Amino acid sequence: PPDIPVADVQEHLRQLQVIADNNGGNRAHGRPGFKASLDYIKGQLDAAGFQTAIQRFTVNGTTGYNLLADWSGGDPNNVLMVGAHLDGVRAGPGINDNGSGSAAILEVARTIGRQNVKPTKHLRFAWWGAEELGLRGSRHYVNSLTRTERSKIKAYLNFDMVGSPNAGYFLYDGDNSDGVGAGPGPAGSDRLERILEDYFRSINVPTEGTDFDGRSDYGPFIAVGIAAGGTFTGAEKRKSTAQAQKWGGRAGVAFDPCYHSSCDTMRNIDVTALDRNADAIAHAVWTIAMAQPGKRF
Ligand code: PHE
Ligand code: CA
Ligand code: ZN
Ligand code: ZN
Ligand code: ZN
Repeated sequence: PPDIPVADVQEHLRQLQVIADNNGGNRAHGRPGFKASLDYIKGQLDAAGFQTAIQRFTVNGTTGYNLLADWSGGDPNNVLMVGAHLDGVRAGPGINDNGSGSAAILEVARTIGRQNVKPTKHLRFAWWGAEELGLRGSRHYVNSLTRTERSKIKAYLNFDMVGSPNAGYFLYDGDNSDGVGAGPGPAGSDRLERILEDYFRSINVPTEGTDFDGRSDYGPFIAVGIAAGGTFTGAEKRKSTAQAQKWGGRAGVAFDPCYHSSCDTMRNIDVTALDRNADAIAHAVWTIAMAQPGKRF
């Protein structure tokens, strides 16, 4: 798998910051900064050779948008989806939540384009709208699929907040290895967790599980039995002493003290966490999508 240059991910974040600055300070659903963000990401993907499509939906009479980007080729009956929500809250520019996931998956997609890779699985990337209003875009997408289309999606990887300034290294707990909380994900989710865990082990970064508690866009996928996984560097919860010992950073302080706030700017990013997560995404996409034909993942 390629090493994703974090400077290229940061450049997308800079562009999203400029978009917020030029559009009233946010990139929220129904606001001009959201559509400008979508147009920016779409332009990047079109230039990289993806087939892009905008899916519209409405939330209480306002129009929302998802962006889907397909990479031609691979087994059409064996689809890997990779997604991030692109909308933010109205309070601020939403650079960690969720410019970070949006930019990281964009740079992985651009790398696929640049290398003109020929995956064995079909790859589809998604940037969701209206996550902050209750996973509205991702739910609309999953509900819009026919049973046949739905059954072709073998895995969904979600990236929401992957550059938290007081970062933790969390993997969605597909196997419910701690035996508590929301329970395991659909069959195959354990395997997705292992693939991501393998990457972090290779760079000697310990990880912890985080429950499928329904707070991000994997929710509608697991609700219909699609295997899901992904990474997360923490939101409003505070880092414990034990977590600060293994990961560094500040015990007793939120993983993201600027969560849903006006200070969620370019300065609200741990570049090391962003870099590791971008590389973890590339590792997972390459491991799953370039596997021998016929092998699920
Ligand atoms: N989805 C939440 C938000 O956008 C943040 C979050 C992500 C919480 C992942 C838990 C797990 O505000
Ligand atoms: Ca890197
Ligand atoms: Zn949020
Ligand atoms: Zn989020
Ligand atoms: Zn686990």
